[in-house]
Amino acid sequence: MTEPVNLQKTLNSFNELWSPRIVTQFNDYDVRVAKFHGEYVWHSHLDTDELFIVVAGRLTIHLRESGVERSVALQQGEVYVVPRGIEHKPESDAESHILMIEPTGTLTVGDTHDKIPDYVDATTGHHVD
Ligand code: NI
Repeated sequence: MTEPVNLQKTLNSFNELWSPRIVTQFNDYDVRVAKFHGEYVWHSHLDTDELFIVVAGRLTIHLRESGVERSVALQQGEVYVVPRGIEHKPESDAESHILMIEPTGTLTVGDTHDKIPDYVDATTGHHVD
């Protein structure tokens, strides 16, 4: 039997930016939370959509669709899905807490990406102790 998971408690358990924790799994999916601040790296997931929910703070997601760049601005409580194959780059001007849902094993930096900066943790998510 599984136990309830407290999102805030999970968020309180780590400080690393751009380093998702796996909150729970269902079917073949992870529910992950991460702390974002600053700019991520441009990347795309070729085989899966990626769902973002802003738990706290705000988030901009830059998108490149057919060579055209645009941005979506998400406020706390808002949900957005980046479709598979679309290049995207999350950015937060202050620390934000983001919940993501994606297939287990999905790499944070996607299948294609720009050069990965040192502060980006390229991972399939970390399990919480
Ligand atoms: Ni992504």
